[in-house]
Amino acid sequence: MEVLKEIENAKIVPVVVIDDEKDALPLAEAMMKGGINIAEITFRTSAAKGAIELISKKCPDMLVGAGTVLTIGQVDEAVKAGAKFIVTPGSNPKVIEYCVKNNIIIIPGCANPSNVELALENGLNVVKFFPAEQAGGIGYIKAISAPYGNVRFMPTGGISPKNVENYLKEKCIIACGGSWMVKKDLIKEGKFDEITKLCNEASELANKYK
Ligand code: 3PG
Repeated sequence: MEVLKEIENAKIVPVVVIDDEKDALPLAEAMMKGGINIAEITFRTSAAKGAIELISKKCPDMLVGAGTVLTIGQVDEAVKAGAKFIVTPGSNPKVIEYCVKNNIIIIPGCANPSNVELALENGLNVVKFFPAEQAGGIGYIKAISAPYGNVRFMPTGGISPKNVENYLKEKCIIACGGSWMVKKDLIKEGKFDEITKLCNEASELANKYK
């Protein structure tokens, strides 16, 4: 299935910060047990690349992307490790153009109309909205989507089980990103059963909007 379609079908995309590669497979297994088959592994730690590589190789049912990608070098590393999509926090024209030119799926971070227009200029109509809650939440997204009817947003930042449905029910939302079900500390402390439980709850919420 096409990657963006898979993201749309997933509805909730866990944003993972992983400190130690050894946690990658137990984490992926815990997530899949909880009904979640997608992860955005952020390039905020040196373990990101190895984690993407391990999960891509050993868990073929998991769709793995790379998040917090800031440079072309990181795009290359992520893709080489097996990442199927790239997510950026901001609208870096060099990174966007590089991905588009090389047919790499990119969901660039947008927080205003100018960012959205840069994405459109590059032929992209799926963007991340970051930081979602802090930048104005669903009200702001609905307002900026008015002139850009064909753009779909993946809000991330400050999203939780308490507010995720406010986003998911809107047509302009392709999926929501969030870290609440894969919190860094839960991974670090090996609380994989808790991760499965939170993923289960998240996938039940997602299922309501599929
Ligand atoms: C991101 O990493 O893209 C977001 O900051 C995740 O935000 P959250 O931790 O508030 O879900």
